[in-house]
Amino acid sequence: MELTRKTILITGASSGLGRALAVELSKRDNALVVTARREPLLRELEREVLANGSRCLVGAADATDTEASRGVVQEAVTRFGTLDVAIINAGGSSAQRMGTISAEEVLATMRTNFDTLVNFLCPLIDHMRERGGTIAYTGSPAGTFGLPKSGPYSAAKAAGRVLLDSCRIELAHTPIRFVALYPGFTYTEGLDTDEVPVKSLIIEKERAVREMLWAIERGRAHHMFPRRIRWPIALGRVVGEPVRRAILGLVDRPARGASRR
Ligand SMILES: NC(=O)c1ccc[n+]([C@@H]2O[C@H](COP(=O)([O-])OP(=O)(O)OC[C@H]3O[C@@H](n4cnc5c(N)ncnc54)[C@H](OP(=O)(O)O)[C@@H]3O)[C@@H](O)[C@H]2O)c1
Repeated sequence: MELTRKTILITGASSGLGRALAVELSKRDNALVVTARREPLLRELEREVLANGSRCLVGAADATDTEASRGVVQEAVTRFGTLDVAIINAGGSSAQRMGTISAEEVLATMRTNFDTLVNFLCPLIDHMRERGGTIAYTGSPAGTFGLPKSGPYSAAKAAGRVLLDSCRIELAHTPIRFVALYPGFTYTEGLDTDEVPVKSLIIEKERAVREMLWAIERGRAHHMFPRRIRWPIALGRVVGEPVRRAILGLVDRPARGASRR
């Protein structure tokens, strides 16, 4: 599937990866539906999309709001007739250590990263069940297993990944493709570079966009990038939880000491 002359919904489009995806897709004669909470940023994006020759619908909404999210999908269908592709991308988190944060803070991270997926996923499945389409989701390598300083974020991204795994099985008889994307550290407004242990691991937004669009066009069930983060994640998976816990515990030791003081 080529991402040209398609109707494409992007959540989390006001900044970072979502915005960069929208700008790139606007150069390919698409109809874009862009959503996030910050409407002025979406209006700026709309001007850029129109200047690049694509059509644009702005649907400002809080993606943790089930009704509002459903409304954006409905408005998109009313305006453009159909949705071919959706990139459910809203999310993010700052560093959080269990033991230092409240239940409310944990649940807020869950809402930002899981509820924002579910609220678009369900109406999109309803819309695409008969006519087909691609639903892509921006997960994270952090959702492969629990990482220090990222417990709530890891848990939320793991929940999203697992939910999509179920969709692929249960909706295999439908023409919907589910693409899970796992970008490594990427320079965006949402990335706190101070929290990245190895700065050389961070990639540029343009690179991430190329990888994401490549995977969506091919309907890849899973795509983790850049390549150099795949082997530590794969190794972490196969060694099992006790070994993983020991290794990550060594990495976390200085921070654990600091948080005790
Ligand atoms: N950058 C990385 O290193 C990295 C790595 C792996 C995965 N990711 C994932 O990539 C996605 C995009 O992140 P980013 O790095 O591009 O960060 P970003 O620049 O902070 O973008 C996050 C986007 O999500 C939107 N958003 C957040 N909460 C929302 C809500 N309640 N309702 C509607 N929209 C909401 C924000 O828009 P408003 O504030 O305007 O609502 C913004 O457009 C996230 O899911 C993140 O977890 C990022």
